[in-house]
Amino acid sequence: MFFDPRTDGMKPAPFTHSVYTALVVPRPVGWISTIGSDGVVNLAPFSFFNELTGDPPCVMYCPNGFKPGTKEIKDSIANVEATGEFVFNLCSYDLREQMNATSIHEPASYDELAEAGLEPAPCNNVAPPRVAAAPIALECKHLETVRLPKSSTGQPNHVVIGQVVGVHVADDIITDGIIDIAKIRPVARLGYLDFAVIEPESIFRMSRP
Ligand SMILES: Cc1cc2nc3c(=O)[nH]c(=O)nc-3n(C[C@H](O)[C@H](O)[C@H](O)COP(=O)(O)O)c2cc1C
Repeated sequence: MFFDPRTDGMKPAPFTHSVYTALVVPRPVGWISTIGSDGVVNLAPFSFFNELTGDPPCVMYCPNGFKPGTKEIKDSIANVEATGEFVFNLCSYDLREQMNATSIHEPASYDELAEAGLEPAPCNNVAPPRVAAAPIALECKHLETVRLPKSSTGQPNHVVIGQVVGVHVADDIITDGIIDIAKIRPVARLGYLDFAVIEPESIFRMSRP
């Protein structure tokens, strides 16, 4: 089949649900901590997230849409534009429930990191805390926000780009000089309500031609 989302939307027959998030899978989960100018911490997952470049290391996440039922942009973009900093936290399988819990929509005064029962840990080069239990965290300085076309209902779409200025790796996930995926079991986002976890038996290796 073929469809054009500009005219057919994202749920053309025979699809029963909006299909877009099931088309590019798996996606990494960027679990992003920020801090407001009033010092309140925000933590939320973003599957529109990725590394962009390696030298210098840059990453992006996309806080899209208003907070449900409001005309307010999400805290994850308001905070980064106010303070210029954010942190990527890697979500391991063990942290999946807390990660999901932090997607709750609450006022800016609500600290999702604390409310999810997580411990904060200080960063070295940025003010927002990282999730202490996350095996990897990347401290980032905001470079720019790209404003994409608004949604069909007039909601804003943003790409937040940042440069990595600090890298935290838990010592116990390093085995023989490399990151030991078996110890992280990273969570990835699929379509609908589905997720995946990278297990050692799903990993294969290929040499470059
Ligand atoms: C796994 C997962 C991935 C998500 N990915 C995105 C995303 O890429 N962009 C987005 O705007 N919201 C995404 N959400 C929803 C946000 O996490 C949610 O809107 C969150 O409350 C952000 O709002 P805040 O910045 O005001 O805290 C995702 C939720 C989950 C559970």
